[in-house]
Amino acid sequence: MRMLELNRCYCADAVAGLKQLEAESVNCCVTSPPYYGLRDYGVAGQIGLEPSPEGYISRMVEIFREVWRVLRDDGTLWLNMGDSYANDGKWGGKTGGKQAYLDDNNRKRVGREKSITGLPPKSLIGIPWMLAFALRADGWILRQDIIWAKPNPMPESVRDRCTKAHEYIFLLSKSPHYYFDAEAIREPAGDWHDSLFQDGKNLAIHPNVGKQARSGNAARKYGDERGRPSSHLGASVPWEGNTRNKRDVWTISTKPFKEAHFATFPPELIKPCILAGCSEGGTVCDPFMGSGTTLVTANELDRNCIGFDLNPDYCDMANRRRDRAMAQQSLFRKEIKDS
Ligand SMILES: C[S@@+](CC[C@H](N)C(=O)[O-])C[C@H]1O[C@@H](n2cnc3c(N)ncnc32)[C@H](O)[C@@H]1O
Repeated sequence: MRMLELNRCYCADAVAGLKQLEAESVNCCVTSPPYYGLRDYGVAGQIGLEPSPEGYISRMVEIFREVWRVLRDDGTLWLNMGDSYANDGKWGGKTGGKQAYLDDNNRKRVGREKSITGLPPKSLIGIPWMLAFALRADGWILRQDIIWAKPNPMPESVRDRCTKAHEYIFLLSKSPHYYFDAEAIREPAGDWHDSLFQDGKNLAIHPNVGKQARSGNAARKYGDERGRPSSHLGASVPWEGNTRNKRDVWTISTKPFKEAHFATFPPELIKPCILAGCSEGGTVCDPFMGSGTTLVTANELDRNCIGFDLNPDYCDMANRRRDRAMAQQSLFRKEIKDS
């Protein structure tokens, strides 16, 4: 009874969109909702600009209740979230409160209220953990906090604290026993691991693999020329060298998608979530699709994907990006077949 075609992003509010999906039809949800108080996405009904953190958290809990409904009982939620600082009285810019402007189509007035955290200025709000605990109280099993460590964080001019260089990915499940393909995301063991596994850059060549250049499907099957195991690239063929269970600190550089003016997932960040959380041919969901990184990455890994975004321009961007990526992939597959 699924009413929407898979492998598209639909323009809808997250809750309204999810309501159109059949219960228990999704293997895993991989998503990055708007962070609290960070950005105005220029569309009425957006989440993230609620006056209080509590208001934001309760909207998020409501959205993830709908994610719970569409997730299979053995499904998982991989939720990326960063923190914000209390800045009471500063939100709203020069207007000192409601900052209103016309959206792209000159239709609706959108804006933000002054934030009321009740915290002293400069205080870290702790939004990721507020959200994690609220979801746990709502029935989710809070299974893990994965640290996304960024070698290239946003520069900050602060002199009274360290530069923030991490975010969280919370792994949550509906049941104590859930689908988790640990084999697909095992990582190479040994001292060379760290240099090898940072972003696919400056990678060492592991002695156990051939040095013949490999990319695309060949790499997916045999591991690539830099020694990264095939699982890193999306295949389920085990790596030949020593491996270990994947660790919970993932060092991955941010990688902007040039058409988007907001933070997008680096594909390398969500590959392990998709590989571990969804079998081939299964379905991944992202209710905050943005530029469509989850859609493109899931499809590249032979998983289906469906998602939503409130901003029609972002939906178009996501669908165009997906169509381009699929056209490139089928061309590449044809070349491999013909050669
Ligand atoms: C952090 S961005 C997601 C970026 C995405 N992970 C990527 O790689 O491009 C958050 C997105 O949520 C969308 N959004 C905000 N409020 C929403 C709502 N109520 N329902 C659906 N989408 C919403 C914004 O338009 C924005 O594109």
